Amino acid sequence: MIPIKSPADLDRMRRSNRIAASVRDRIAAETRPGVTTGDLDALAAELIREYGARSAFKGYRGYPGHICASVNEEVVHGVPGARRIRMGDLVSLDVGVVFDGFVGDTATTVMVGVSDVEAIRLVDVARQALEAAVAAARPGARVSDLSHAIESTAKAAGFSVVRDFVGHGIGRAMHEEPQIPNFGAPGRGPTLRPGMTLAIEPMLNRGAGDVTVLGDGWTVVTRDGQPSAHFEHTVAVGEAGAEILTESGGDG
Ligand code: MF3
Ligand code: CO
Ligand code: CO
Repeated sequence: MIPIKSPADLDRMRRSNRIAASVRDRIAAETRPGVTTGDLDALAAELIREYGARSAFKGYRGYPGHICASVNEEVVHGVPGARRIRMGDLVSLDVGVVFDGFVGDTATTVMVGVSDVEAIRLVDVARQALEAAVAAARPGARVSDLSHAIESTAKAAGFSVVRDFVGHGIGRAMHEEPQIPNFGAPGRGPTLRPGMTLAIEPMLNRGAGDVTVLGDGWTVVTRDGQPSAHFEHTVAVGEAGAEILTESGGDG
């Protein structure tokens, strides 16, 4: 069963996701050469505490960080630490918070200074894939319509999608039903209804879609070492379409 949120619970989702988006944007603004991913984690921890929230990630199945910070060939679940950010890096920052019993979850990929043309295109197309899936998240649509929007956007630009990790329903738990794969034929899976809240999160690779997990048990990397980009919005399905709960510009 996919949970349908009440109007009061949707307001709680708006609040927690505004906090997540604000933390995302504030750490993105500090992502520059010389800063370590551990520095960004410490800053995120401080901001999350200031908002009166807690990290949804820390301790989740033993995850050690407050955020995920995934650089270049790291796809998702990069464990923050001593890795120092350099000019041209692509840094995926994924922030999850719990506030008043509901989870906010969002990610962006920051380009540090100037990257090469293909890296710029990868980030642009990953953002467009997310936008296409959000546009598809209307009442009456099927879950795989979002999957198809992501995959077709990626394929048309010559990029591959990661098949091992999925978007997801979200609410009182970070991961609720349904799973939202980033590939597949349209017209399959559950039908979207108003009040459903979904975290949509395309992961696009410049090379092949194959990934593997590092020895830390968390950090997912591309097998071919080529860069990856990741964007994530949490949305609420409304009568008129998707309401993005993790838009930039709020103050938390
Ligand atoms: N935020 C991730 C997602 O988008 C999940 C992170 S799990 C963690 O679903 F343990 F790494 F935090
Ligand atoms: Co996330
Ligand atoms: Co997510």
